[in-house]
Amino acid sequence: MSGTGVFDTKVLPADNDGIKLAADLLKDGQVVAIPTETVYGLAASALDDDAVARIFDAKGRPQDNPLIVHIDRMEMLPQVARAVPEYACKLADAFWPGPLTMVLPKAADVAPRVCAGLDTVGVRLPAHAAARAVIHAANLPLAAPSANLSGGPSPTTAAHVYTDLKGRVPLVLDGGYSPVGVESTVLSLAGAPTLLRPGFVTPAEIEAVLGVPVVLSDGILAPPPEDLKPASPGMKYRHYAPAAEITLVVGDFAAFGALVAERAKAGPVAALCFEGEEKQLPVPAIAYGRAGDDASQAAGLFRALRAVDGLDIPTVYARMPGDSGVGLAVRNRLLRAAGFRVIKL
Ligand code: TXA
Ligand code: MG
Repeated sequence: MSGTGVFDTKVLPADNDGIKLAADLLKDGQVVAIPTETVYGLAASALDDDAVARIFDAKGRPQDNPLIVHIDRMEMLPQVARAVPEYACKLADAFWPGPLTMVLPKAADVAPRVCAGLDTVGVRLPAHAAARAVIHAANLPLAAPSANLSGGPSPTTAAHVYTDLKGRVPLVLDGGYSPVGVESTVLSLAGAPTLLRPGFVTPAEIEAVLGVPVVLSDGILAPPPEDLKPASPGMKYRHYAPAAEITLVVGDFAAFGALVAERAKAGPVAALCFEGEEKQLPVPAIAYGRAGDDASQAAGLFRALRAVDGLDIPTVYARMPGDSGVGLAVRNRLLRAAGFRVIKL
């Protein structure tokens, strides 16, 4: 594989000029970081295997973890998926454009590296206007994983991308905050509908459209067994992990405060909490959303994980999010960031 290029990374607003430059680079086989409604993506042509290799290179991503392909209109779907089951049509009607990725049988034109040797491809039609404008201008389906260094928290601002990928990519398009804040829901339609990764679109919402139950894959709320080959290869990797060691704490705020105060006697401790709780804790604390408000927790989570790392405190205790609605996605990401360490009070 080619070595990581050295670039004088530009950060440009996602206006007409920025979108045109992004499209020109993508047509030329380069990678560009683009905003989406979930998190920023690191895009390249899904039809060009050398371009896709540059994504893996820039991120330091393991080669066996496949990428999601982004399209801007339904007419592009046959270029990416060779069959579109009835379920997929119903879900596209209900949730596209939006934060749902469907795993479908892969079409021949999709570059081999995109799918890491699988016969399936993850496809998504994003809602973000700038993402769609870039796909439209390049007139290419774009493979794009989250635009972070592999293993770290996903980026929800252009500044996060710049911190991670400065010098490794030619262009970051700045489209402001990613409002959803966690990556798309990944649903396999290769067999019975199976949730591979929870996101903003919930299993209950999918069930309501399909009229059949959605299977939750192992590894969403518990570590996948070491020997099991996960249906979604991404599940086996350490993810979203800041340098600090995070432990999730189940219990009310009073018990959380007491635990943090006790542990702080042994050494520096920080807290990830809900808005309004920061000042009431005896240690440095960062809020990742409002208590009981799963959408605000999703929107704030990755920013908070990066900020807690910035404190340079090795031990972090975090308030446990709920598991209903998009809370399931927040809990999944925090459990993984915490290496599934949980204390129940
Ligand atoms: O919201 C998102 O999905 C963002 C934005 C940029 O669209 N992208 C994203 O990509 O999160 P990434 O690469 O960080 O995560 C893709 C996930 C991984 O867990 C991967 O294993 C899974 O989707 N995936 C992709 N293709 C797959 C396939 N053919 N079969 C099973 N899992 C697949
Ligand atoms: Mg990712």
